Amino acid sequence: MNSRSSFLLFLLFQALLLAAASTTAYPSVVDTGPTDCSLSDGDLTPIRREVYDNGRIIDISHRFTTDMPAWESDQGLGQFLWLPKSMKNGSLANNSEMKLPAHTGTHVDAPGHVFDHYFDAGFDVDTLDLEVLNGPGLLVDVPRDKNITAEVMKSLNIPKGVRRVLFRTLNTDRGLMWKKEFDTSYVGFMKDGAKWLVENTDIKLVGIDYLSVAAFKDLIPSHLEFLRGRETILVEGLKLDGVQPGLYSIHCLPLRLLGAEGSPIRCILIK
Ligand SMILES: *[C@@H]1O[C@H](CO)[C@@H](O)[C@H](O)[C@H]1NC(C)=O
Ligand SMILES: *[C@@H]1O[C@H](CO)[C@@H](O)[C@H](O)[C@H]1NC(C)=O
Ligand SMILES: *[C@@H]1O[C@H](CO)[C@@H](O)[C@H](O)[C@H]1NC(C)=O
Repeated sequence: MNSRSSFLLFLLFQALLLAAASTTAYPSVVDTGPTDCSLSDGDLTPIRREVYDNGRIIDISHRFTTDMPAWESDQGLGQFLWLPKSMKNGSLANNSEMKLPAHTGTHVDAPGHVFDHYFDAGFDVDTLDLEVLNGPGLLVDVPRDKNITAEVMKSLNIPKGVRRVLFRTLNTDRGLMWKKEFDTSYVGFMKDGAKWLVENTDIKLVGIDYLSVAAFKDLIPSHLEFLRGRETILVEGLKLDGVQPGLYSIHCLPLRLLGAEGSPIRCILIK
C-alpha cells in the first residue's frame, strides 16, 4: 500500500472516531470571556474568545500579554506595546507601536534560526511554505514521563502520509505557557527524536506547546536536525489546552518579515 492510500484509510478511521465523539463539544475549552477587559460599561465589553462558531474553530495561539513567558526570562515578556499617538492627548486616532523578540509567544522558526549560512542566504520566515503551514494534520498526546526521543516517536505510530503534527506534552498539563517564569524543564524533542522524525516520517509541520520544540538539554542539536533540510517548519508556543486529540484542518500564518528567522504566528484548528 502506498503512503497516499494508507493516509486515506487513516483519514477514514479518524472520521469514524470523530463522528463517535461528536456529541462532546470540547467542554474543557473554556471561553475566558471579557474578564480582562478594562471597560465596564455593559454594551462596551468586548468578547474574547478561544473558540468560534460553537467550537468549530479553535484558536491555538496564545494572547500576547506582558506576563507571558519569554525565553530565559524570570520577568515574562514585559511591556511590548506603547501608544505614542493617543486620542487622550489630541491625536485624531490611537496608534500603537510594538516591540517583540521575533520568537515570542506562539511563533514559527525559519531555517536561518540555527544555520548562519541559511540566514545569510535569506531563508527567513517570508520564504516558508504556506502549503505546509495550512492543511490536514493531527493533534497527538505524547507520553508524559519522557522527552520526545526516537523511542517515543516510534511508539506514537504516526502513519506515513501525515504531514502536520501538533505534539501535546506535559507542558500543557503544567500550564507552562501561562506561567511568567521561563522553565527549562519543559518537554521537547531530544536530538534522536528529531532525527527519527525527519528520517522516518512525512511530517513537515511540527508543532509543540512550549517556546521550543527542542528540549533545553538538546536545544541546538534538535533544531539542527529539524532545520538542516529546510523542509520542516517548526511552530512553537501553541495553546493546546482542552482540545481533543485527532484530525483537524490546521491553519497557521506567519508575518512576512523580511530577514527574520522567526515570527509570531496565528494558528487555528478547524474541525
Ligand atoms: C501622548 O500620550 C502618550 C501616552 O499616552 C505619550 O506616549 C505620547 O508621547 C504623547 N504624545 C504627545 C505628542 O504628547
Ligand atoms: C485611545 O487611547 C486611549 C489611551 O490613551 C484609550 O483609553 C482609548 O480606549 C483608545 N481609544 C480607542 C478608540 O481605542
Ligand atoms: C525533559 O528534559 C528536560 C531538560 O531539557 C528535563 O528537565 C525534564 O525533566 C525532562 N522531562 C521529562 C518528562 O523527562
